[in-house]
Amino acid sequence: MGSKIRKIVVLDTTLRDGEQSPGASMNIKEKMEVARQLARLGVDVMEAGFPVSSPGDFEAVKAVADMNLGPVVAGLARAKDIDIETAGKAVGKKGRIHTFIATSPIHMEKKLRMAPPDVIKAAVHAVKYARTFTKDVEFSCEDAGRTDWGFMVEIVAAVIEAGATTINIPDTVGYCTPWEFAEQIRYLKENCPNIDKAIISVHCHNDLGMSVANSLAAIRAGAGQVECTINGLGERAGNASLEEIVMNLKVRRDFYQADTNIKTKEIFKTSRLVSQVTGIRVQPNKAIVGMNAFAHEAGIHQDGVIKERATYEIMTSESVGWKGESMVMGKHSGRNAFNKRMEALGYKLDKQELERAFDRFKRLCDKKKVVYDEDLAAIVDDEIFSGNMLWELDYQNTNSGTETIPTATVRLKKGKEMFLDSGTGDGPVDAAFKAIERIVGQPFNLNEYALEAVTGGKDALGSVRVRVTSGGKTAVGRGASTDVITASIKAYLSAINNILLQKEIKAKKNGV
Ligand code: KIV
Ligand code: ZN
Repeated sequence: MGSKIRKIVVLDTTLRDGEQSPGASMNIKEKMEVARQLARLGVDVMEAGFPVSSPGDFEAVKAVADMNLGPVVAGLARAKDIDIETAGKAVGKKGRIHTFIATSPIHMEKKLRMAPPDVIKAAVHAVKYARTFTKDVEFSCEDAGRTDWGFMVEIVAAVIEAGATTINIPDTVGYCTPWEFAEQIRYLKENCPNIDKAIISVHCHNDLGMSVANSLAAIRAGAGQVECTINGLGERAGNASLEEIVMNLKVRRDFYQADTNIKTKEIFKTSRLVSQVTGIRVQPNKAIVGMNAFAHEAGIHQDGVIKERATYEIMTSESVGWKGESMVMGKHSGRNAFNKRMEALGYKLDKQELERAFDRFKRLCDKKKVVYDEDLAAIVDDEIFSGNMLWELDYQNTNSGTETIPTATVRLKKGKEMFLDSGTGDGPVDAAFKAIERIVGQPFNLNEYALEAVTGGKDALGSVRVRVTSGGKTAVGRGASTDVITASIKAYLSAINNILLQKEIKAKKNGV
């Protein structure tokens, strides 16, 4: 008789730890869109954010929880009352509060400046308080990978006694090896007297490129939940990639004797959507979702695959939802085909959004012969997910050259009113941004600017991503157009609108 296959709980933290990747922050609409796709993918738990970190993140976590998509929605909280209260309000009674405190000697001494018994007290209090909001409470020993194992057992036993239902053991700094990490999980299982009352979870970072290996080793050693992100996004070098863990478990089920609820055919679509929304491209040779993951270049390999696929393929591209070449759409494609393609790409648009996106698609068809999936995703991001459009571009004209001072004239629309101004700068984009600042009436700091061609060819759509700060607020903006200056202006306006909205929310909160 074969042994029993264990079901591993998949906690996706793309919307929280993934969002901590430099430049990956998402607005509410974007988080909701990704959340919808994560639900289709079949994740068991989605960590939607860190509600106390900003009013915007609170709203986003609450919005995701209110969507009732099926998966449990988790909110992160330090072991502090205000964090827990805020997370509890955001995720609601059916949600999960994920509270944490650091347990490694270096973190306790240098960062928290707390003695180990006080850390245990704070953890127990946090879990008990979290339980007043929901029955589903996860506790993490931050930097568990560098924590004394005896102390780990002590604090874990105490928080389980206090009501924690999931115990997360993160390798926060990506320091562990698979052998040690598996040993640590086994140690916890064998030495913590009440461990059977909770699920052991792992959360591995990728600083040494070992996050997936460490997660899989921990699953072999008995972990019942794995925390991961789409495309391996996350703080610094990222988290363990969901698609790699899931496909390892699927392809090597014989070895791991474990499986997940993930609908693997949704993987590719989810990867694309997250890449589009965050603006972080997937490296071509990335396992499972890279553009080359299923491409056979060498003649010997091609010959082998033609004769028998399994000679060089251990899984099919179809099993992860990769349908080969990007689908081509053009000016003869109708609304229905457009909508179907949007759905296949992971976008669920309401009637109005569909109309706007379709109209934009038709206008793009006039400028571009073939429209690829990447173009479609870029125009939807630009048209639908660029946030509230307080200020909109109506007209722009720039002048630049080797012997000219770059100048720009910009006309913006706010409600029904039009505003026109001009500016000079180091280049046409800079000049246009200066003109915008004159119209809006305040300066903004441009911290990041990235321009890339969405597809190949001279008529490719240019996609611009900016990060802007002003008065302590930060926002990311995106814009797409066949004209790179227009794309830049749109991206800048989308970030500015977002910042102005944040300021408005704060002013309302303060009763100003
Ligand atoms: O890496 C980490 O330790 C974390 C915790 C908050 C779980 O992200
Ligand atoms: Zn983390």
